[in-house]
Amino acid sequence: MVDLKAQYEKIGPEIDSAIKSVLESTAFIKGPDVKLFEEELQRYMGVRHVISCANGTDALHLAMMVLGLRPGDEVITTNFTFIATVEVVALLGLKLVLVDPDPGTFNISVDSIKKAITPRTKAIVPVHLFGQCADMEKIMAIAKEHDLFVVEDAAQATGADYIFSDCTVKKAGTIGHIGTTSFFPSKNLGCYGDGGALYTNDDNLAMKLRSIANHGMKERYHYSDIGVNSRLDTLQAAILRVKLKYLSDFNNARKNVADFYDEAFAGCLSLILPERSAYSTHIFHQYTLKVKNGKRDELKKYLESLKIPTMVYYPGPLHLQEAYKNLGYGENDFPVSSALCREVLSLPMHPDMEQEQLDFITSSIIKFYDKTA
Ligand SMILES: Cc1ncc(COP(=O)(O)O)c(C=O)c1O
Repeated sequence: MVDLKAQYEKIGPEIDSAIKSVLESTAFIKGPDVKLFEEELQRYMGVRHVISCANGTDALHLAMMVLGLRPGDEVITTNFTFIATVEVVALLGLKLVLVDPDPGTFNISVDSIKKAITPRTKAIVPVHLFGQCADMEKIMAIAKEHDLFVVEDAAQATGADYIFSDCTVKKAGTIGHIGTTSFFPSKNLGCYGDGGALYTNDDNLAMKLRSIANHGMKERYHYSDIGVNSRLDTLQAAILRVKLKYLSDFNNARKNVADFYDEAFAGCLSLILPERSAYSTHIFHQYTLKVKNGKRDELKKYLESLKIPTMVYYPGPLHLQEAYKNLGYGENDFPVSSALCREVLSLPMHPDMEQEQLDFITSSIIKFYDKTA
């Protein structure tokens, strides 16, 4: 699905020298590259603060911790996301309120959010799924009206732009009170291990987040908050500094792949192409089709037989997961997520795809339909 080896072949010498300089400095924790990376990402994102941490799940956890929410407070998020988005809410004893996504964009439905708000609602967590922003302008308006926090899960959308109706442009993750991201290796900006970060324009939240991510320490061995240990390794920061320079090129290359797929499948009525919304650019963390007529698994198997990898993100809606049974949702409560889980199929997507690979993938899929139609 991604080819990190091909990428390493391109930028290997720069990566090697970044790693070597950290090894020579032995500043493995909180070395200079961590601060430099935060500053560089801050500039790229156009945000006042970037606080790096150990992974994207921790970033969400830290965001939920810093908002001062109390057990039982309700947090609304999408039922169609990676499990990390919801597990941190559950871990803090907050009440998880799941809602369906929009069937076209896969992102949290604004109407469903409105319907789910109660006097106990305290926060909304939109996820910018597969590389495209949720409808943040509308979500921020709802949050303002009901005095709610917004934590954007931007793990899959590093570099995507949200375009407001007055044409202002902001990066995914910098619009809500806090944004979070992941540098998991396969992400658009990925490191060579685990890594994550938080974004905020609020100086107080930033100060507190830095403290909580470092054991709640304000001054050395003085603890003002209950914290955790969640730091980005210097080695990963050094790698990310190299990769950040290429992020725009990599994202453009992904878009070219998506354009090619779109064009190749345009006449294939059984495939619904990923919708591109007017208010967001799409950086195609995933290129995800909807396969109609119940043929998703058959198509997946056929492609597997040709050694073409595909993935189902996500195969089961969160409300039916064993661990979340206690939320009390019924099987048919989320028809959109349930239908998506049966239909979605993500194709190989990365910046180093070769024309030959693209031709083989697209012609194989078209052949499948010629044979089975
Ligand atoms: C939407 C979303 N949120 C959160 C995470 C968690 O990130 P990490 O794997 O770095 O903990 C991921 C990573 O896969 C993700 O896709």
